Order: sequence, then structure tokens, then C-alpha cells
Amino acid sequence: MPPMHALLLLAAGVAVPTALAASSGTFTALSFNVAGLPAILQNNDVPGDKTNNTASIGSKFAAGRYDIIHVQEDFNYHATLYQFDNHAFRTPTSGGVPFGSGLNTLSNFDWVDFARVKWDTCSNASGADCLTPKGFTFMRVKVDDGVWIDVYNLHADAGTETDDQRARTANIQQVANYIDTWSAGNAVLVFGDTNSRYTRAQDNIATFTTQNGLADAWVALMHGGTPPSTESVCANPSTTPSCETVDKLFFRGSALLDVRAASFAYAGASFLQPNGSILSDHNPVLVSFAWTLPSALRASNFFGGPHGSWFSDIPALAGAVPSPRGATLTLRGGSRVDGLGISTASAQHGGSGGTLTTFALGADEWVNSVRLCQGQKDGHTRIFFFQASTSKGRTASTGATTGDCATFAPPQASWGLVGFMGQDGDEIDQLALIWAP
Ligand SMILES: *[C@@H]1O[C@H](CO)[C@@H](O)[C@H](O)[C@H]1NC(C)=O
Ligand SMILES: *[C@@H]1O[C@H](CO)[C@@H](O)[C@H](O)[C@H]1NC(C)=O
Ligand SMILES: *[C@@H]1O[C@H](CO)[C@@H](O)[C@H](O)[C@H]1NC(C)=O
Repeated sequence: MPPMHALLLLAAGVAVPTALAASSGTFTALSFNVAGLPAILQNNDVPGDKTNNTASIGSKFAAGRYDIIHVQEDFNYHATLYQFDNHAFRTPTSGGVPFGSGLNTLSNFDWVDFARVKWDTCSNASGADCLTPKGFTFMRVKVDDGVWIDVYNLHADAGTETDDQRARTANIQQVANYIDTWSAGNAVLVFGDTNSRYTRAQDNIATFTTQNGLADAWVALMHGGTPPSTESVCANPSTTPSCETVDKLFFRGSALLDVRAASFAYAGASFLQPNGSILSDHNPVLVSFAWTLPSALRASNFFGGPHGSWFSDIPALAGAVPSPRGATLTLRGGSRVDGLGISTASAQHGGSGGTLTTFALGADEWVNSVRLCQGQKDGHTRIFFFQASTSKGRTASTGATTGDCATFAPPQASWGLVGFMGQDGDEIDQLALIWAP
């Protein structure tokens, strides 16, 4: 498009369609327990100086340009790790021992809705897991415009005594339940130190598959989809990808995003000291992914703040994608947006306050543009204004405009609004739009 033309479009407030974004791509994910407990407490049987080893790990993170890295036990050498790494997006540390969880993310992609969650249960039976508040982290990672994946990092309770097993199975169940609540309808990656093995009868690591529909990349690519029934412990660095470590990576796609694991490797040989000694007592796990956008549903980016509870029309829309034509919008608002819904998805989101506006589209009319404004209420960002514009040039709106607005368009002008996802309470905190042909 010539620059002059682009300027005119911008001046007219015309949104950039999401079709301009890529419809397929690849990325890599690396999980690594970096053995960063203070050397005085735990040498992890790793030779050499921990600060020096951590500097090497950071340099190798930068050189490897991995897209999403999850570290565990990133405790007392964290500053060195970040000094030698150069990823654009990194979580601030939650602290060394005994304050932090040791969990951090280093990424080439930005995210929203980051949360640190502590385990409800820990065990001192072995491994002193209660010494520091371990748990898991959550974030919605933006791989590309309209391409979002919910990404979890975790470090489950260690040890095999009865109380360890009890704590660890509770940890895995806690993440599985969180995924059901916070990632309904979404593509998901879970990767970290699960301290679990498929061959250990007391472990419940298969819960991610049976409850959440996640596939283990190692099981999928190295074992044809079925976990081996005999234990095979890995060397460090591992010489084969078929042995099992407790460091695992699970994934699933969604109706909005097809996600496939393309390759699996233990990357231990890429993380060695100059003389060949290991840098950590764990092998890093490296998985490359390929993603594709489906032809039937697309999401916009998120707008608003990271507050409230997750909602999504995707589960309702995924089975048979409805036509956006002839839908009815139900909007509630006053000085902000209290609630909204669309008949194609049938659920209403947000609260029941505000003034109700019911807006019925004609049989050959669809919403092909949405304008949102956000603002601050009690120190939290919320959605203040919603306006739908139709293919017949009509508009419906609720709430009040602010100085911070954006216009969203479907990937093609013939596509229309069929649903919403985001976070809500008694008002709408965060919103993304779902489009269909
Ligand atoms: C490699 O170097 C480290 C740190 O100097 C040392 O502790 C370790 O013993 C060395 N490993 C070998 C195999 O020589
Ligand atoms: C750590 O690295 C520095 C800089 O390369 C080196 O001078 C020092 O001897 C190393 N320390 C240990 C204990 O290996
Ligand atoms: C574990 O040990 C720590 C330190 O002794 C103690 O403060 C904590 O209450 C213990 N937790 C459990 C669950 O036993």
C-alpha cells in the first residue's frame, strides 16, 4: 500500500485487518532446571562455580535464541542469568531462597495476564520443598497478532516418600484445575520440572492428558503417543531422546489455533562447561512447534486489564461455527461496559448493571468493526466503551469513550463478529473479539 493511502486510512480510523498477520509459523520452547539453589545449601552435584555456570547458561540462552524459555530453581544466581541472557521479555524474579519460587520465563514474545500461584500443598519429607514457596506461573503469550497461547511453568514437589507423593499429586491436580478454569477454549503449553514419572504408580502426571487434553511432546514424538511402561532414566547430558526425565512439556491446540510439536530433544549437550562438565543436574528439554490458524474462527488481540475471571465463547462456538449474519447483540453499560453477549454464542458476560441495549442485525447484516475504549476504575484497567459497526453502516454502542481506544476489524470484510473472550467481574475487564466467515 502506498504511504499516502496508508496515512489516509489511519486518519479515517480504519482498523488494520488481522489478515495482514501471518497464518502459520513456528517457535521453540525450552524447559531447564538451572540448579540455582545457593551453593552452600545444595551443590546439585554440578562441578564448578555456580555464578560462572549460571553466566554460561545465560549466554547459551541468548545464543540459542529460543522463543520461550522456562527456568526452575532460578533462585540465588538470577541476576547473573539475566545479565548474560538478552531475551526481550522476561519475568521479574520473585526472589532467592526462601522468598521466591525459582520460576521465570525468558521470551521473544510479549504476554498479558501474568500470575504466580503457590502450591496449596508442600512436603518436607524429602527435598525440603516447603523451604521456599514453589508453585506455578501463568501467562497468555502473544505469538503473533491474534495468535495467543496460555503458557504455564511449574516446579512440583520432589521426593518419593508418602508425603512427597501426596504433595506432588496435589500440585499436578492444582494446575490441571487451574487450566480448566483459566484456559477454557485456549491453546495451552505446560512445561517445567514435574518431578514425575509415568512409570511411578503413585504419580498422576497423565492428568494433564486425561483431564486437560494436553499431549506430552516426548510421549507424542518419541513413543508414538503411549508412555513407556518400563522406566528409562536419562544420562546427563542424555545421549538419546527416548529416555524419560521429570522435565516435561505438554501442549494442546484449540478451535482458534492448531498447534503441533514438530521435534523433541534433550539439549544437554548444548549446555556444557568449556571442559565438557555439566552446568545443571537436569537435562534441558527442547521442543519446536508449528502453528496454523484455522479457516473458520479468528481472535483479535486482547484489550483492557488483567483482572476478573476468564470467560470464552470458544467452547460454545467450536462445534459448529455459526454465521455472524442476523445475530443479536445484548449490551449493558453506563459510564463503563457492564456486560455484553451475542446470540451466536448465547452466553452473556460481565454483570447485570447498566442500561440494556438489544441490537438485532438484519438477515444479511453482520458486525464488521468494533471500537473499544479502556480506562482506569479503582486503579484497574477496564473496558469503558464498546461500539459495533455493521456491514449496513449501522452502529450500536454502550459505555463512555476515553482517550485510549482501538478499532478492531475481522481478517476479511465479509467476516463478522460471533463471540467474545476475556476477563470479567460485574463489569468487563478485558476483551478479545472472535470472528467467523
Ligand atoms: C571442569 O571445570 C570445572 C570448573 O573449573 C571443574 O570443577 C571440573 O572438575 C572440570 N571438569 C573436568 C571434567 O575436568
Ligand atoms: C569464574 O569465571 C571467572 C571469569 O571467567 C574466572 O576468573 C574465575 O576463575 C571463575 N571462578 C571459578 C571458581 O571457576
Ligand atoms: C516444613 O519445614 C519448615 C521449616 O522447618 C516449616 O516452617 C514448615 O512449617 C514445614 N512445612 C510442612 C508442611 O511441614
